[in-house]
Amino acid sequence: MPYFSLALLPSPTSAAARDDLPAPAPVTGQGEVTVIGLGPAGPRWLTPEVGRALREAEHLVGYGPYVDRVPVRPGQERHTSGNQVETERAAHALDLALGGARVVVVSSGDPGVFAMASAVYEVATAEPRFAGVPVRVLPGLTAAQAAASRIGAPLGHDFAILSLSDRLKPWPVIESRLAAASAADLVLALYNPASASRRWQVGAAKDVLLRHRDPKTPVVVARDVGRPGEKLTVVSLGDLDPETVDMKCLLIIGSSTTQVSTRGDESVVVWTPRTYPA
Ligand SMILES: C[S@@+](CC[C@H](N)C(=O)[O-])C[C@H]1O[C@@H](n2cnc3c(N)ncnc32)[C@H](O)[C@@H]1O
Repeated sequence: MPYFSLALLPSPTSAAARDDLPAPAPVTGQGEVTVIGLGPAGPRWLTPEVGRALREAEHLVGYGPYVDRVPVRPGQERHTSGNQVETERAAHALDLALGGARVVVVSSGDPGVFAMASAVYEVATAEPRFAGVPVRVLPGLTAAQAAASRIGAPLGHDFAILSLSDRLKPWPVIESRLAAASAADLVLALYNPASASRRWQVGAAKDVLLRHRDPKTPVVVARDVGRPGEKLTVVSLGDLDPETVDMKCLLIIGSSTTQVSTRGDESVVVWTPRTYPA
């Protein structure tokens, strides 16, 4: 028995989902929360739809460094906070919208990938006073897509995305998911691999991966993709040095079919074939 029928649900994003229609404007006097993703870097990876939402916002709410990436607009208020207060930030945005304001919650990359969209829905669905506040999510380019495109096509076959951060989930859960995904021979994109305080996780993940993957498996260390200082390094899993990885990096771990090739101009590309041996 399904929980509900999709056909019976109101579709707040039905107009926005169509290319030929502008994103729906809120009813005058009614506030709304729009959760957006800026992409992993720079304006060229920001979608036109997100650009429009940012221009029309009365309030921007987000983690300071992300809000700082948005050009200042006169008359627009900015509310910045630290990176460990997602719930409070979501409640603040919903409160502003409840008061009638057009609020944009700013994430990097895609807002639904390890970012604010879930936090906003968590608060919006838990607190009855927010039940009537419209919430919409606008997609953004996620870091794994940008990193993959810079080095070739490592995500060309089945892949899994995992966060290595044990701030919001216990390490044993991460370890068991890493083991399952690597045993299934999926390419892995690992977000949040390390930070100033999380230093042992990459080494521990490497140990788990080596139980299921050949030490020669290619690994892409993608740092600051699309930003000044961008650097993509290809190493073997056995040679991966956890000390070279920090929070500005994303790791792509190849599967058994992932190839490393050198092109005519000496550039190295990493790609995973569309086909898989029977
Ligand atoms: C909290 S997650 C946010 C992910 C974001 N919502 C997305 O969809 O890309 C932050 C992590 O994303 C990855 N990341 C984001 N932007 C990146 C970039 N430009 N270059 C490399 N990694 C990036 C890093 O692993 C970083 O630690």
